[in-house]
Amino acid sequence: MTKKNPSETKASGTATVARASRKTLLLALIVGLAAGVMTAVFLLANPNSSGVGQTETTGKALIGGPFALTDQTGKRVTEKDFAGRPMLVYFGFTNCPDVCPAGLQVIAAALDRLGHKAKGVSPIFITVDPERDTPELLGKYVASFHSGIVALSGSPEDVAVATKAYRVYAKKAPDAERPGEYNVDHSSFMYLMNANGEFVKHFPHSVDANQLADEVAKLL
Ligand code: NI
Repeated sequence: MTKKNPSETKASGTATVARASRKTLLLALIVGLAAGVMTAVFLLANPNSSGVGQTETTGKALIGGPFALTDQTGKRVTEKDFAGRPMLVYFGFTNCPDVCPAGLQVIAAALDRLGHKAKGVSPIFITVDPERDTPELLGKYVASFHSGIVALSGSPEDVAVATKAYRVYAKKAPDAERPGEYNVDHSSFMYLMNANGEFVKHFPHSVDANQLADEVAKLL
């Protein structure tokens, strides 16, 4: 093993530092560029993000907004009817084979866990299948899980406004097991909104009911 002379070591050390700072600079450029592109993509995908009529308070994803639907009693309701207390919003349909029932069971269990405090939150189930899920049918369906859940349906156009506001994906697909019938492929998150109708958090349909109840309780 040969020993480098001190000046050589110093020179190569300086070169290393120079290379390192060039790398850092390049990395900073790439990160900056990526951030710029991501911001542009976000703005393109969310044209309302800086627009009028949306409330941006925390920089969180803009989920939620106005809707006008019909509840299980036949009453026309909008988001304003739920103002002043948090909402737990979930989308699905009565013919859903497993995901929606599982999610509704979690919501029902969370409401049970909240006990008397459950009155302080509005659990809302909005159909993604308005053609089959009439308000009455949807109401009977949610009541089989929990009497406190609000069922909302409406015209396909009304429902489209709500799914768009909550950025829910929903698309009809042929039912492989029942020829002539269809299913609705859909995203299945629960959206926790605060008393001002602002998005707080979302949960998968498989969230633990106790955890869900705890998160709701924080807003009560
Ligand atoms: Ni479903």
